[in-house]
Amino acid sequence: MKPETRFVHAGMQPDPSTGAIMTPIYQTSTYVQEAPATHKGYEYARSQNPTRKALEDALAEIENGKFGLAFSSGVAATDAVIKLLAPGDEVICANDMYGGTYRLFSKIFERFGIKFIYVDTTDSGNVKNAVTANTKLIWIETPTNPLMNITDIAAVAAVAKANNILLAVDNTFASPALQTPLTLVPI
Ligand SMILES: Cc1ncc(COP(=O)(O)O)c(C=O)c1O
Repeated sequence: MKPETRFVHAGMQPDPSTGAIMTPIYQTSTYVQEAPATHKGYEYARSQNPTRKALEDALAEIENGKFGLAFSSGVAATDAVIKLLAPGDEVICANDMYGGTYRLFSKIFERFGIKFIYVDTTDSGNVKNAVTANTKLIWIETPTNPLMNITDIAAVAAVAKANNILLAVDNTFASPALQTPLTLVPI
């Protein structure tokens, strides 16, 4: 399928209960269970919700991912990613990032013992040189908000892969219409 067709149909499954083409907005909080843990994949809205699942499947499709996870804001998603880490872990990140991301890192997570090393990621050599035994995550944003600096995702992904480090790409500005980071990582 061409990208425009994939974007239109991404994640769409007729609703199994009614056949509705568009997934309805499910506003229920809890779901019936035949027995404890025996259910149709949905038990409580914070954990699973069919409307959110349709969005997650659509995002996975257009990002060329295996699965998607939706959050109520970008900063909430960033917050969840950093919580994969533990005190003492190091993150290499851009010295030019969205202000909300920088504030989350410097004002909240530094207090919990996570170390952020800020480099000019537009040169992947700077990322490579900043790697230490404690580096657990490389966080890049490309293009950056607001300066539109560009980082070579494939080059940084190669550094991450060679050192067994997680890589996160904030793709907000390009969107998957223009840039799909998951297709730029070495397999
Ligand atoms: C590059 C970038 N990342 C993250 C965010 C945060 O997104 P949200 O406002 O949904 O928390 C923004 C918001 O402008 C952004 O520009």
